[in-house]
Amino acid sequence: MLSFAKKLISVLAGMMVFVSASAVLAAESDASLKWWQKTSVYQIYPKSFADINGDGISDLQGITEHLDHIKDLGCGAIWITPVYPSPMVDNGYDIADYKGIDPSYGTMKDFDKLVAEAGKRNIRIVMDLVFNHSSDQHAWFRESKQSRTNPKADWYIWRDAKPDGSAPTNWRGIFGGSAWTWCEERQQYYLHTFASQQPDLNWENPEVRKALYDAALFWLNKGVGGFRIDAITYIKKPEFRDGKPDGEDGMSSIHFMTANTPGILDFLHEFKREVYEGKDIFTVGEANGVAPEDLPKWVGSQGVFDMVFEFSHMNLALKNGEIWCRYTKWKLPELKNALTASQKMTANNGWCPVFFENHDQPRCVNHFFPQGADTRKAAKVIATVLLTLRGTPFIYEGQELGYTNVAWPSIDNYNDISSHGQYKIALEEGFTPEQAMKFVHYFSRDNARTPMQWNTGLNAGFSSGKPWLPVHDDYLAVNTLTESEDPGSVLSWYKTMAEFRRSHKELTEGSYEELLPEDEQVFAFARTSGKRRLVTVANFSLREAKLPDGFMKGKSILMSSEPGGDATVLRPLEARVYRDK
Ligand code: GLC
Repeated sequence: MLSFAKKLISVLAGMMVFVSASAVLAAESDASLKWWQKTSVYQIYPKSFADINGDGISDLQGITEHLDHIKDLGCGAIWITPVYPSPMVDNGYDIADYKGIDPSYGTMKDFDKLVAEAGKRNIRIVMDLVFNHSSDQHAWFRESKQSRTNPKADWYIWRDAKPDGSAPTNWRGIFGGSAWTWCEERQQYYLHTFASQQPDLNWENPEVRKALYDAALFWLNKGVGGFRIDAITYIKKPEFRDGKPDGEDGMSSIHFMTANTPGILDFLHEFKREVYEGKDIFTVGEANGVAPEDLPKWVGSQGVFDMVFEFSHMNLALKNGEIWCRYTKWKLPELKNALTASQKMTANNGWCPVFFENHDQPRCVNHFFPQGADTRKAAKVIATVLLTLRGTPFIYEGQELGYTNVAWPSIDNYNDISSHGQYKIALEEGFTPEQAMKFVHYFSRDNARTPMQWNTGLNAGFSSGKPWLPVHDDYLAVNTLTESEDPGSVLSWYKTMAEFRRSHKELTEGSYEELLPEDEQVFAFARTSGKRRLVTVANFSLREAKLPDGFMKGKSILMSSEPGGDATVLRPLEARVYRDK
């Protein structure tokens, strides 16, 4: 075994040789990659990032002040979840005006300043387009609900009751309860895939589509660098008929009835033509319900978006739209299969976003590792995989610090509308309140929404007022200031891996090949570009993992999240990158 010093020298030497060789390769293939394929994206939940005016809610100014943190992570774009005027029933995913800024976040001037300041750092702002539904407080809906004959009467999905007065179908909305709400004025029901305050827009109506395209163009004119398109798989509605009940409530999950209905791509091709085709931005659709094998229709030369968030690796326990209390256990090969499937389907045509967290998911260190895992080590495993897979890495705020889930005692402590719905469903299904809270602890979206931790001061430096959601109690150790001073921290590892990605072109332009697919402890894959090949090996388990005989042949370690071990044995929760050839 090499001594640590010798190993370090060989690592540095390997890197230096490689940098000069990769420059040659880059000249050729770099040109075919777009800017968003060569960078990472940072995702911000705007209520929870940095509060400047002390009202307990983050603001646009707070983002502007922390742009350097994002730049240091190697991110060239920031996806901000909705900042439009909203009653905030679903924290901004219920939009009341598609062309404004919610006063709690600041003004349009603040937004323009953010775009300009980000631009100076080569960072582009990506807006979240919520086009499946609006808020029930949007002027369009307020008009639509007045009568069956007003000019906006057909802008939402209205249907008569069944002869017995009940809802037109037995669909359960994604947040629980019926997906239909009765409207006295019209004596009709309207459809909402999510909360009743989020009525679904009628995409069959060309005026609706035009109004939505117009909103997207408004933001393009402001210089944004892309769009994340929310819940887009639900815009095309199928025939309205009852589904087979899949719960004690006698309802059938709307997801299984409406996601990815044939005809949806016609709408989306029009959207592309009218709004962004040929422009120097990127689009990433949220595509729950799109399977890896559907990807060629969604991305790539014949597709509608540059990338889609395909959720098969995130939904292993929930199988796309399943209710929380019926989750299933999964093993590492399933995670690897899911990731490999989307890598394969986009290998020659298209591109993937690589992600392990977002504002709807539990923290990745709790999601992908056994209970009792050292979360700091686990966070570094995810960072290594995230920043060496093929695709555009998405880092969700706090992930770079190694954030963990919270576990508040009562459902009343939770803000997330879906946690309340799922808690109710669990009780209806016969679980005790204690059991129902366990599901909430594991799955609640509030796990991802606690405020950013900047330092060890009041409210972790997030706000001088009362934060809208409590700060996680680990903030004395987990915060950007403390971690930036510690070379062994999760944050330092993210920065190291970001720089490693930037300086190794095979990680952007190289192909992907899965290695050791059956291994239940280790995720291993190679990234090859021309004659250069890197191999990532990540031990997701709490046990040592011995690599197969011969695996190390021709390989030397470049990076290790736990330096200093035996070359052929990975320690628990250790991730490495090898130079191979
Ligand atoms: C998407 C968003 C989620 C939101 C829902 C309704 O899934 O990511 O946060 O609640 O759409 O807009």
